[in-house]
Amino acid sequence: MTAILEARNISKQFGGGLFQPPPLQALSQFSMRIETDPPSITAVVGESGSGKTTLAQILLGVLPPSTGDLLYYGNPVAELSKNEHWRFLRDVQMILQDPYESYNPFYRVDHILRVGVRRFGIANNRAEEQKVIEEALEAVGLRPEETLGRYPHQLSGGQRQRVMVARALAVRPKVIIADEPVSMVDASLRATILDSLQTLTRDYGVSVIYITHDLTTAYQIGDNVLVMYRGIVAEAGDAELVVPDPIHPYTQLLVGSIPRPDPRKPWLEEQQPSEIGRNADPNKGCKFADRCPHAMEICLEEQPPSYQVDAHRVAACYLYRDSAQTEATDFSDVFVEPKVKQASEAV
Ligand SMILES: Nc1ncnc2c1ncn2[C@@H]1O[C@H](COP(=O)(O)OP(=O)(O)OP(=O)(O)O)[C@@H](O)[C@H]1O
Ligand SMILES: [Mg+2]
Repeated sequence: MTAILEARNISKQFGGGLFQPPPLQALSQFSMRIETDPPSITAVVGESGSGKTTLAQILLGVLPPSTGDLLYYGNPVAELSKNEHWRFLRDVQMILQDPYESYNPFYRVDHILRVGVRRFGIANNRAEEQKVIEEALEAVGLRPEETLGRYPHQLSGGQRQRVMVARALAVRPKVIIADEPVSMVDASLRATILDSLQTLTRDYGVSVIYITHDLTTAYQIGDNVLVMYRGIVAEAGDAELVVPDPIHPYTQLLVGSIPRPDPRKPWLEEQQPSEIGRNADPNKGCKFADRCPHAMEICLEEQPPSYQVDAHRVAACYLYRDSAQTEATDFSDVFVEPKVKQASEAV
């Protein structure tokens, strides 16, 4: 079946022109298919500057890739007809990191919900419009009578963020890209918001791309996880494999930095980069070589391809060159079908 959204060999470079800073490769050769049948949650994890927001903006069609294509039902987004483009804009919605910034303080929250519903002709009349908005609020656990009529500053941070989820849901999208939706809220609200993202997938058939720097929440709600490092996908696949048992040295480092609640399991020891890796040229070879405890000569030469290490995981690391089944071009092939998870139980 044709994927609703497909990134095909996308790279994005910033700068490098006349009077511009030196070129920076924010995303390299990225390919992924996003399916909605069945809908699932894909978590994109990586430290600051790894290219997550760049990827989100490219998938939303607001940032043109330097090379490669973004396809909507198999057709390049840049070449869609007016009607198809309008459908693309409705089908692929986003939720941003800081909801306060996205609000106009002079409008009540009703306004922000109504704009999308009107723009995409979701309701035929005022009464229907009200019903759509109330249903969307209820879907994310908010009471319409307590939410509507209020100004943004009269809501808590968690309520504001859930209004953003409701706003995205009200236009009946097929894909929602959520860029750090819980980074501005405290731990007690995090579970509620993550729960509402899961509701989108489970009850409303929306596929979610959940972007975060936090491996713990990625594991809590992601069916599949994609670990990014300096614009490349270091490791990707079933969340149940990638997080509990990482195989890429970078994912191992990330997992090692999560505080462990079980005192019998010590923190993983911070490993030192190998002697060879210290000579790494940042513009050549594996992007992780300078921090990698396993760096070999070959790692300084060329970025490793994605090796399919087992049925549900790929890793871009020469450690798996001999043992891997194949080189994978599109890691969605290793992704697993969604499982039922409860964020609130895991937090
Ligand atoms: N418009 C731009 N012009 C120049 N460089 C940019 C631009 N946008 C992003 N970058 C650079 O691209 C790299 C990736 O940035 P991006 O915002 O995608 O990272 P991120 O993973 O979302 O980070 P964070 O976790 O801090 O949000 C960074 O080095 C950033 O400085
Ligand atoms: Mg970002």
